[in-house]
Amino acid sequence: MTSISDPVVKRDHDAKISGRALYLCDYPRDGILTGKLLRSKYAKARILGVDVPELPEGYVYADARDIPGDNNVQMVCDDTPVFTRETAEYIGDPIAMIAGPDPEVVEKLISQCQVHYEELEPTLDMETSEEFFFDYNYGKGDLEKAFAEADHVFTETLRTGHTEQAYMETQSMMAEPEADGSMCIHGSLQCPFYVKNALKRVLGLPAEKVHVYQDVTGGAFGGKEGFPSMLGAQVAVTANKAKAPVVCILDRREDIEFTSKKHPSVSVYKAAVKDGKITAMDIDVKFNAGAYTTLTPVVLQRGIICASGVYNVENLHIRGRAVKTNSVPNGAYRGFGGPQTFFTAETFVSHIARKLGLDVLEFKKANLCKQGDLTATSGKYHFRVPLPEMIQEVDEAIGYSRKHAEYSKPQTGRYRKGIGMSLCFHGAGFTGSAEQDVIKAVARLHKYSDNSVEILISNTDMGQGLHSTVPKIAAKELNLPYSKIKMKLPDTNRVPDSGPTAASRSMMVVGELVRRASIKLRESWIDGEEQVVEEQFKQPDFMIPFTLANFHGDAYPTYSWAVNAIEIELDTLTGLTKVIDACGSYEVGTPIDENIVLGQMEGGFLQSIGCACIEHIGYDSKGRIRNNSFSDFLIPTAKDVPHLKAMLHVVEYPNGPYGAKGAGELPVVPGPAAYINAVEQALGNKTYISYAPISAEDVCEILAKEA
Ligand code: MTE
Ligand code: MOS
Repeated sequence: MTSISDPVVKRDHDAKISGRALYLCDYPRDGILTGKLLRSKYAKARILGVDVPELPEGYVYADARDIPGDNNVQMVCDDTPVFTRETAEYIGDPIAMIAGPDPEVVEKLISQCQVHYEELEPTLDMETSEEFFFDYNYGKGDLEKAFAEADHVFTETLRTGHTEQAYMETQSMMAEPEADGSMCIHGSLQCPFYVKNALKRVLGLPAEKVHVYQDVTGGAFGGKEGFPSMLGAQVAVTANKAKAPVVCILDRREDIEFTSKKHPSVSVYKAAVKDGKITAMDIDVKFNAGAYTTLTPVVLQRGIICASGVYNVENLHIRGRAVKTNSVPNGAYRGFGGPQTFFTAETFVSHIARKLGLDVLEFKKANLCKQGDLTATSGKYHFRVPLPEMIQEVDEAIGYSRKHAEYSKPQTGRYRKGIGMSLCFHGAGFTGSAEQDVIKAVARLHKYSDNSVEILISNTDMGQGLHSTVPKIAAKELNLPYSKIKMKLPDTNRVPDSGPTAASRSMMVVGELVRRASIKLRESWIDGEEQVVEEQFKQPDFMIPFTLANFHGDAYPTYSWAVNAIEIELDTLTGLTKVIDACGSYEVGTPIDENIVLGQMEGGFLQSIGCACIEHIGYDSKGRIRNNSFSDFLIPTAKDVPHLKAMLHVVEYPNGPYGAKGAGELPVVPGPAAYINAVEQALGNKTYISYAPISAEDVCEILAKEA
């Protein structure tokens, strides 16, 4: 390995490609009980009682009364129950679990349970709900003055839809009671210590009696950040009662209907423009949290920090609220609130330019933030903002300017074309001071007497390649062959808490700790001896401290940047849109493995195209999700976007390993705004589309209105 970016074969490649990797559903089931959940039929109802059928020998029924500790799944706030309390708050809210040796018998027993409900009026529409879980406010400058002095004022309401993470492996967790009274919980998960901390409280056990490890995980995309704590708690409570191991593997229908998704949003934007510059923005963001808070506060925080986009807006006010509705709780989804507000900011700014009769891209360029400018939260862009060069690269690679000019001419005929561009950043790592004040990551290296070295961190590989890339860092720093660096799936009995795998922090933050630990070990190296070294997180000293109370300071130490261009063809007869060409430039610092990082960018780009056009959860009037399978909830495949090109633009980040920054989430952010921008052009720039995704039906409706 000469350069850290040179590709290696992913360590899980053979096992996954050959089908030998053992997921939880591949475990032999001898002696293991299968658990299934009894769920609320109503979006809101008082649970008056449950008539449980007589259980055959070896079967067990567990509900809230069987919880030894708190009926609370610890996430950010304490409101998410393990099993329903007096009321069910969404369709699917778990009331109880039945477990037993034969899954079919368990299924039958569940269907024989008679739940007595008192139906209550649910709140299903986020736009009319008046219950708010969180209400944040922040700003800077003098809004009133800027609006008073403006040449133009624009307002618009923009919306984003409900999307499912669509990992290939459904949510799966297992709990095994151990002889000494401790509980072992394992499964498909992102954050072992989140599960451990939640389970300590649910089981009322001391830390040393709760043991959590990750099994091979078939994708997560944020969906396995909070939810495994809940499913883990349900199997553990049931296993505790049964005094036997219990596994629960959701089927796809349950997974789509009853697990956390991306927050739908509605935002009202207002902007002041003077001399071609956006001088002020007043933004009101609402995210639909669903029935419980789960990870909503942190998703909303990131969302509102991104709400003014990549633009330098000196006078700013942003309000962000999380709305309660009686629908499935929403949670982390790759991008963590950023995809919603970057879509709204980018689309709104494009519309301002069009309303002013200006070229969209030129208007955006004139308003871009640059190094040294203040961020929305009055922190600083400490490093170079490479967007102008990246716009140029994308323009050259896809022929944006030429195509944009061509498609601006009047188009007739059944098929019309359009091209759109969008810009975004992703704040690298956790928001605010959480890294220093809450997570306090520790990474450890263990060197054995055969001179092999094991990396001990709690971060997981869910497909993003972390367990292939982090060992590259240790190998390089220690001058050891890559194969001499060991790394296993994390187990809380063996690894220190280096924090969750979320917010694209693992490579940038924990990768850097591993690099520093490797230097320490190299400098104290004694051949043939067992040695252990540790490194602890320290916040970069250039950072302006962040206070959450007023959203003031550096929300992130640095940012990753992206530019997307998407070219589409629109069929005016069917309303279908098809991607003909797609190109993205991504700046994530030094790629720790060029292939893995490009794979992340390509996969994320495709995922964001899905969020622009086809991925949309639909409900019936009672609040039940209708498209609960992969034949009804469609996601794009490589065939849908044959000419997708991702390029890396490298600006090294001095505080990340070899210059690396957060990468994994960035590519899902910019797609929808570029897509909608392209659709508008194909429609002759006569309409302003202020929502994503856009369906063929939506396109037909627009065409019908115009006719
Ligand atoms: N890539 C794959 N293949 N599968 C995933 O589940 N999750 C994404 C992203 N890329 C994901 C993925 C999410 S939600 C995050 S937060 C980042 O990877 C994590 O990147 P990190 O390892 O740098 O923390
Ligand atoms: Mo990623 S949404 O931060 O797990």
